[in-house]
Amino acid sequence: MPDKKSVGFRFRSALIALFLQVLIALVIFLPALYFDIRGKYSLAPLYLLFAQALLSAFVAYLLKLERWWVLISFFAPLLFIVSLHVNTNHWHYLVIFALFFAIYGATFHSRVPYFPSPDVIPDLLASLLPGAPFKFLDVGSGFGKVLLPLARRAPFASFCGVELAFLPLVISRVRANLCGRQNIEFVHGNFQNMDFSEFDIVYTYLSPVVMDAVWTKALAEMRHGTLFISYEFNVDGRKADFEIECVRERTFLYVWKM
Ligand SMILES: C[S@@+](CC[C@H](N)C(=O)[O-])C[C@H]1O[C@@H](n2cnc3c(N)ncnc32)[C@H](O)[C@@H]1O
Repeated sequence: MPDKKSVGFRFRSALIALFLQVLIALVIFLPALYFDIRGKYSLAPLYLLFAQALLSAFVAYLLKLERWWVLISFFAPLLFIVSLHVNTNHWHYLVIFALFFAIYGATFHSRVPYFPSPDVIPDLLASLLPGAPFKFLDVGSGFGKVLLPLARRAPFASFCGVELAFLPLVISRVRANLCGRQNIEFVHGNFQNMDFSEFDIVYTYLSPVVMDAVWTKALAEMRHGTLFISYEFNVDGRKADFEIECVRERTFLYVWKM
């Protein structure tokens, strides 16, 4: 069994997905060109494109590629054609690519894409904060959506966010400066290099694939009596001490007393 966490495995999935697109395009479009389907049926190219999207996703599914590769395999040919028909300056594509890369570029390595916590999370977390000074860490702090409101509510506490992706990090630092927040710091880097023992509360909203790693680290480093909180993703085989429901999202905050 290949190690799904290895960079080699992820490159392998990307290469298979790319190879599938090329192969299926050849299988579908070469005969179409040969038999001049376009000349006979006016909508044929659109149908063929759809067939390419469906078939690529289906084969990716059969090959047991990870779920997002199945989705990417479906949408890539459609987006490719849309991009050819959108009448825009080519620089726009470069700018859009650069923006996405600055937000999601690290995902290939981390396997945790950016998506924000729901709006209700700062309120729910605030109900767990102590009244006396404490240190709070947001593992993968994104654009600071969780930390900024918490830091405003508890000016006597200190808040730290660690973030791998460049653009979210810069924007959260700018936001903290604009609010004049002195009790909040955003650190660039991998959470694996942070020392969890410094913190009284560690909050994570990551992905199921890294929950084992982050839990192992929390267990090894966090002090007795501190809180480890994960939004949406539980830790396999480790029942939380209590759960708080996010009613609208039908998800939970899982809370462990270490
Ligand atoms: C699901 S988002 C959560 C963002 C933020 N905590 C929030 O709730 O709005 C996860 C974030 O973790 C970051 N991330 C992923 N792996 C990381 C790692 N190993 N070290 C630090 N940050 C990481 C991603 O770049 C992403 O911004």
